[in-house]
This record gives sequence, structure tokens and C-alpha cells, in this order.
Amino acid sequence: MTEDMTSGETHVPVTVAVEKVESLSATDLADLCEASEAAIAEGGGFGWVAKPPRETLEKYWRGFLLVPGRSLFVARLDGMIAGSAQLIRPPRNNEAQAFSAQLTSSFVAPWARGHGLARGLLAAVEQAARRAGIAILNLDVRDTQQAAIQLYEAAGFTRWGTHPAYARVAGRIVPGHYYFKRLIAEDEAGGADAGPELDNA
Ligand SMILES: CC(C)(COP(=O)(O)OP(=O)(O)OC[C@H]1O[C@@H](n2cnc3c(N)ncnc32)[C@H](O)[C@@H]1OP(=O)(O)O)[C@@H](O)C(=O)NCCC(=O)NCCS
Repeated sequence: MTEDMTSGETHVPVTVAVEKVESLSATDLADLCEASEAAIAEGGGFGWVAKPPRETLEKYWRGFLLVPGRSLFVARLDGMIAGSAQLIRPPRNNEAQAFSAQLTSSFVAPWARGHGLARGLLAAVEQAARRAGIAILNLDVRDTQQAAIQLYEAAGFTRWGTHPAYARVAGRIVPGHYYFKRLIAEDEAGGADAGPELDNA
């Protein structure tokens, strides 16, 4: 997806794009690490609460791409990776939940926010999941991530529960909310083993 957009505040034209990636060039890996660091430093809800060493982040992203059942989507602002989202399927033995998947670790670097990148990542993840026959998309989010909550609720996710002790941030326990969205109607879903492998989607 590529489109030209005009920033609401500064009226500077920017190009945004979202894609699923199978590998990362050295430049893309460095950009992804920088975007991750910026989001973590800002308190971004990306699991880490303190910025890890660069080497740890590089290993994390390289390792992520090697694990079966995991897909990485990146968002680019003017060509540079500025955010990402992950789609994770249950392990193969979990046939009972093979119709579902988890959207997780979605973030956009603070300097790239407000250009529709998170909405684009969500749309790309949903499209890939549908193509893979995934009927239910699950996610969870900290109560403090109000922008994300607004995004997911506006996109049709249903909150089904709240965990009162979901995460610890800056020494404080914060609640988190659990959401799902039905991507494929029940009568269209083909059962637990429906759909091709996501990697081939
Ligand atoms: C949530 C986040 C990913 C949004 O990224 P973004 O690229 O700026 O979002 P978009 O420009 O695509 O905005 C899409 C929608 O998100 C919501 N949103 C984005 N920023 C918002 C804000 N500051 N306040 C309230 N809602 C906001 C709105 O619903 C917006 O739609 P609108 O523009 O029609 O109002 C980003 O703020 C972020 O990385 N936050 C920290 C990490 C996080 O919370 N991740 C989610 C964990 S599950």
C-alpha cells in the first residue's frame, strides 16, 4: 500500500507504505531498531519498558523472522521503516485454536505518528490474516495506550475482558484490555484447519 498524504499539522507531503517482510536489509534493520528504541523510550507498549542494547534488538528482529507462524509487517514513512506489527499464529499442535491469531507488538515511532501508519499496519495484518483463513484476530493492550485503544475500537474490535494486573510499568501495575475481531463470518470459516499457511498468503 502506498499513498501520498498531507500531514494535517505541517502540510508537508509524505509517502506512507506498509508491507509484510520476509527479510530485512542492513538499512531496514537499523531503521527498525531505531524506531523500536524511540517507541520504547516514549513508553510505547512494545513489551520492553527500558531500551535494550542495540545488539539485543538486532538479535530480536533477526530471530523473529526465523520463527515459523510469525509474520512481520513494517510501516514506512518516506521509505524509512518507522513502525511495525506482528501476526502470530498458534503453534501447530494447537489445532483447536488454529482458526485464530494474535496481533501484537504494534507500534509507530513518535516522530512518524499521525500519518495513518498504524491504521495501515492494522489493515495489512487483517488482510493477510483473512487470506490465510484466520477467522478471529485477538489482541491485548495496556489501559494507558489510549491511542491504540481508540484505533482498535474504531476498527471494530470488541473488548471482552480486562485484566487488572496486566503489566508493570515504572513500578506500577496497570490494567490491560483484551479484544477480538471476527474477520470471517462463522458460516464461511472452514473449521480448525481452514486456510493456507500465513507464510504463503
Ligand atoms: C497507537 C499508535 C500505534 C498509533 O500510531 P499512528 O500511526 O500515529 O496512528 P494513525 O495515524 O494510523 O491513527 C489511526 C487512529 O489511531 C487513533 N489515534 C492515533 N493517535 C491518537 C491519539 N494521539 N489519541 C487518540 N487516538 C489516536 C485514532 O483512532 C486514529 O484515527 P483518526 O486519525 O481517524 O482519529 C502509536 O501511537 C503508538 O505506537 N503508540 C505506542 C505503542 C502502542 O500503544 N501500541 C499498541 C500496542 S497493542
